[in-house]
Amino acid sequence: MKISVSAPGKLMLLGEHAVVYNRPCLVTSVDQRMRVSVESIKEEVFFLDAPDVKVSNYKKPISELGKGDIPKGAKFVEIAVANFSKKHKIIGGLKVKTKSQFSSLFGFGSSSASTVCTIFALSALSRVKLSKKEVFDLSYKTVLDIQGRGSGFDVAAATFGGILYFFTGGKVIEPLKIKTLPLVVGYSGTKADSVTLMNQVSQREKKYPRAVKNIYDQIKDLVETGKKVLLKKDFQTFGELMDLDQGYLSTLGVSTKKLEDMIYSSREAGAYGAKLSGAGGGDCMIALTPENKRLAVSRAINSVGGEVIKVDLGVEGVRIEKK
Ligand code: PMV
Repeated sequence: MKISVSAPGKLMLLGEHAVVYNRPCLVTSVDQRMRVSVESIKEEVFFLDAPDVKVSNYKKPISELGKGDIPKGAKFVEIAVANFSKKHKIIGGLKVKTKSQFSSLFGFGSSSASTVCTIFALSALSRVKLSKKEVFDLSYKTVLDIQGRGSGFDVAAATFGGILYFFTGGKVIEPLKIKTLPLVVGYSGTKADSVTLMNQVSQREKKYPRAVKNIYDQIKDLVETGKKVLLKKDFQTFGELMDLDQGYLSTLGVSTKKLEDMIYSSREAGAYGAKLSGAGGGDCMIALTPENKRLAVSRAINSVGGEVIKVDLGVEGVRIEKK
């Protein structure tokens, strides 16, 4: 038997970094999806093909899952299978294939999406009924086992889809009744390592605890206000909140010259507001933009060397594609 599933990528709208420290954030799913197929086989072996992350013909006895050296590109899927099998028996072996619609360089959350897909596909394959929250919990545990840190917002976007108000670790996962947002997304051309950036911020917090904790609280305020104005579709105010948040992210030291160039040129071209999205240090920025300024903002991002990526927002979470 074979199951194919897919899960969306994500973009952080407001609240990154602070959300790691018991504060809320706003996140949206994006319509670039990760696809994973899982096939049960008789031989008690785990096979993995993940060409997007340079893993091909990887195999391991089921009894060895999670042990020994694991190539970087295989980690999330393998540990997800290992964690699932600790709770629910897997009979025989598995052939897993992953294929992404988006580059793992964008910071759209390919690792989390492949983790969520793996857990969801295994539950369907083994006929274990898991609620979405249970899929989230097991996937989030997998991400923490590997990364040691992270709020789980990306796991929530992949699992539930939509636009979410999210609190650290999934203490609150609230879908917002808003379908989409007029965002222009710009890729800076550099891949950032989220864990390194989280560690840098935590170093800054150790050195300047009062200042940095105050910033987290200010960001929390922006997120709470952002949630309210988003529901009213007050994009003007939401854009201002994005600009304020960007100021705090720069203060935390996670912005880059290239991101700032893209952000400033978007604002000058008429965006309501613009900020980096995710850990910073590279990856993507987002500009909330009136429809009649979309072209000008896209050109402005291009003119400073950014690449505009077309995405739809607020799409469905993890789902079965075909059995
Ligand atoms: O770099 P990304 O897109 O994985 O985003 C990281 C966002 C952080 O708040 C810094 C970390 C987290 O897990 O919430």
